[in-house]
Order: sequence, then structure tokens, then C-alpha cells
Amino acid sequence: MTKHDLIVIGAGPGGYVAAIRAAQLGLNVACIESEDALGGTCVRVGCIPSKALLEASERFHEAGHALGTFGIKVGSVELDLPRMLERKTKVVDAMTGGVAFLFKKNKITRYKGHGRIVGPGRVNVEGPDAVELEAKHVLIATGSSVAPLRGVELDYDRIGTSTEGLSFPEVPKHLVVIGAGYIGLELGSVWNRLGAKVTVLEYLERILPGMDTDIAEEAERIFTRQGIEFKLGSKVTGAKRNGDKVTVSVEGQPDIECDRVLVAVGRVPNTKELGLSSVGIELDPRGRIPIDDNFRTYVPGFYAIGDVVRGPMLAHKAEEEGVACVEHIVTGYGHVNYDAIPGVVYTHPEIASVGKTEDELKAAGVPYKKGVFPFLANGRARALNAAEGRVKILAHATTDRILGVHIIGARAGDLIAECVVAIEFGATSEDIARTSHAHPTLAEIVKEAAYAVQGRAIHI
Ligand code: NAI
Repeated sequence: MTKHDLIVIGAGPGGYVAAIRAAQLGLNVACIESEDALGGTCVRVGCIPSKALLEASERFHEAGHALGTFGIKVGSVELDLPRMLERKTKVVDAMTGGVAFLFKKNKITRYKGHGRIVGPGRVNVEGPDAVELEAKHVLIATGSSVAPLRGVELDYDRIGTSTEGLSFPEVPKHLVVIGAGYIGLELGSVWNRLGAKVTVLEYLERILPGMDTDIAEEAERIFTRQGIEFKLGSKVTGAKRNGDKVTVSVEGQPDIECDRVLVAVGRVPNTKELGLSSVGIELDPRGRIPIDDNFRTYVPGFYAIGDVVRGPMLAHKAEEEGVACVEHIVTGYGHVNYDAIPGVVYTHPEIASVGKTEDELKAAGVPYKKGVFPFLANGRARALNAAEGRVKILAHATTDRILGVHIIGARAGDLIAECVVAIEFGATSEDIARTSHAHPTLAEIVKEAAYAVQGRAIHI
């Protein structure tokens, strides 16, 4: 039996960040991960490789279609897909290697294998580093996997998930994406830019459920202009492979023939084969591990964070929880403000949001004021050839406190950071409006939207 203070199961953004913070706080930490590379879905087959491909495909598209606008003539632009994929792999390897370096630096013991809880404070590692571990605290950070879709049998080739969608060996002629959420839009954009016909089938009558409706509608218009075909209100009932083709069946509509299918209808928590029942941890109806405000499960000594617990399945949310969880274990304090967790879709333009949507405020009967400012009226956006989009700020009607910010437009993912800080500090729209923003920057659009809340935007 090998003893540690804390055993972390899973080395994704939740688990590895928690392990590092716990080591900083003086704990002797073990981290169990079954994959060779550290970093979890996010670093290996999620956020990082998708961003590498989004960047590369955007440059390819720009070289072929947009540089003329800047007065730059280019010869014929050719795609070197193997090279593009190789670069993506290099970016991933650098990042996973970085996590391994941080583990060494912080003296975290890494065990390769599957972690299985076998009793209070006891976890077995099954696999290459088989060993019995014991610790006072056990943190479950095992993440999530692709949600299956009834009737659609994944063959992880022609009918695949985001993992396959990051490595298609050739540009599909016709790619069908099931689900118009984060993954469907990001990977749909990548292959659309590289030349595939992309059809997105979405069950609901809108894209990006959960995001602000105005922004989602604008996103749909922009992506449609970019060539992505959306079929909303489409319930997929099956997908069958015949050789190199796939036939997708949609309720009440003709079948669709395509080369590849990408299933992106959400993710489910990884809670199977963890030995939870050996200590009496029960799951909620959605398969998640119930926790209290301090990430404690209802069994002493066991904690859970990230995609296996309630809340959005986002890497940065898991990181915040990991830090708060171990800080609470060591110091008695640790807190996550769920009203200030941004969400970003890394399409072009990007879509970013924090706080409440207009629909949520209406449903809750909260009186609000709204300020909207378009990218079109901003000098820097014009210079960047990025005049699509807008910033929308929602503030309380009487206190002016910022309740939500929703952005579609270039670098929205970076612009939202200021708004998250504003919400964290309980700022009002006037606070942002009266803060000097460098000229000429896209950040001025946020300032102008804040002015617009008071009905006094300058440049429109
Ligand atoms: P999602 O929850 O974002 O979107 C799934 C979409 O599929 C929804 O629009 C839903 O209505 C639709 N859908 C469900 N069943 C369907 C059916 N039978 N037929 C057609 N459409 C159906 O899930 P997604 O895109 O798979 O992403 C999974 C998770 O990963 C999300 O929780 C997301 O937060 C996270 N993620 C975050 C990213 C980021 O932060 N940029 C990037 C990629 C993923």
C-alpha cells in the first residue's frame, strides 16, 4: 500500500490543475491517468487540437478568399492536409509534455492506469503502474465522453466523434454534423473552410441552445453565409455505413447520403468502472456525482469536480473547481462564482458569453436595460476586415449592475474577459463606460455597448 495525502483520478484540466495547486499547498499528491499523455480530453483531443485546426483552416480560407480585400494577390492556394494535421499534433505534444513537466516540477506522482475506488481512502491503479494507493482525500476528475445517439452506431471512422473529426485523412466531400452546439459548429467550420460541404442537423429549432437567442440567430446567419447548411428541427433516427458512404435518416425527411458523419450531441460523465458503489457514492438521474458547495460527495474523503458534476462541461470551469476544492481541503476556504464562468465558441467570428441571457432574465422577471453596439461602427474592426457582429450588455434596470454580456465578433473570446472581471467585481455598465479603453481596439466596442445601456453610445 502506497500512501499519499491526495489521490486525483484523471489528469484533465480539472484533475491536473487540482493536483498542481494541492502540491503548491504542500500536499503529497498522486494523479492516476489511463492515457499515456497528460492533459485529458481538452489537451489531447478537444480544446487544443481543435483550436490548432481552427486557426490553420481560417488562414487557409483567408489566403484563398480574403487577402484580395487587403490588396494582396496570391497565386493558387493549396491545402497540405497532412502537414496541417502534423502541426496540430505538434501543438498537442508540446502541451501534454508541458503538463508532464509541471508534474515533475511540483513533485506529483503520476500513475499510468485505470483508477478504481476499492474502499474509504483506497484506490487501486489497474494497468502498467498497478499499485494499491491510500490517501485521506480522493478527488474524482474523470471528465466525460461523447453521448451516444440512438440508431447511430459509431464506427469511429465514417461515423465518428469529435476525436475522429480532428483527424480526417482527407477533406470529406459531404460531412454531416449531428448537433449545432459547440463541437458541431467548431468542427463544422474547420471542414467547411477546407472545402467540404457541411450539413448540420439540429434537433431544436435553433442553434447553440443556452446561448443568447439574438446572438445565436446572428451566428446562424453568418455561418449560413459562410456556406454551412443548417437543417433545424431535424431529429436524426439513424446512420448506416455502406462502404465509404453513410446514409443518415432524419424523421419526416428524405435520407441524406454523405461521406462522413460527426456526432456532437453532447457529452456524458465518465462514472462507470470507477468503483463508486464500493464506498456508497450514488449518481443523480443524469449520471453525475452529487456534491455540496465544497465539491464533497456525500461520502467523507471523496470529492468530485468538472464534467462528472453539475454545471457546464467546460475546461476552465473544471480548473476553477479543482483549485477551489483543494484549497478548501487545505485551508477551509475555496469558492467558485458560477455567475462568472464565460463560454466561448471558437468559430469565425467567435461567440462569447457570460452571465444571464435575455431569455433567462425575462423568465426570472428581472428588470433589465440593454446596450448593443455593432463591430461595424468600430475603426479597428473595419481595419481588421472584421465588421461582423455585436456586443450586447444586459444590466439591472435600477442598480445598473452587469448581469450578462453576449458577444459575436472577432476575438470575442478575448473581449469577454473584461466582462467576466466586471461581473466578478459587481461592476455596473457605467463602470465600464467610464473606464478608458485604448483606441483603436475592439475593446472599445464593449465600452460603447456599456454607453448604449444608458442610451448614449458615441459612435452610432
Ligand atoms: P452541446 O451540448 O454544445 O450541443 C449539442 C447539440 O446537439 C445541441 O444543440 C442539441 O440540441 C443537439 N442534439 C441533441 N440531440 C440531437 C439529435 N438527436 N439530433 C440532432 N441534434 C441533437 O454538445 P457538444 O457540441 O457535443 O459539446 C459537448 C460539450 O463539450 C459541451 O458541453 C461543450 O460545453 C463542450 N465543448 C466546449 C467547447 C468550447 O468551450 N469552445 C468546444 C467543444 C466542446
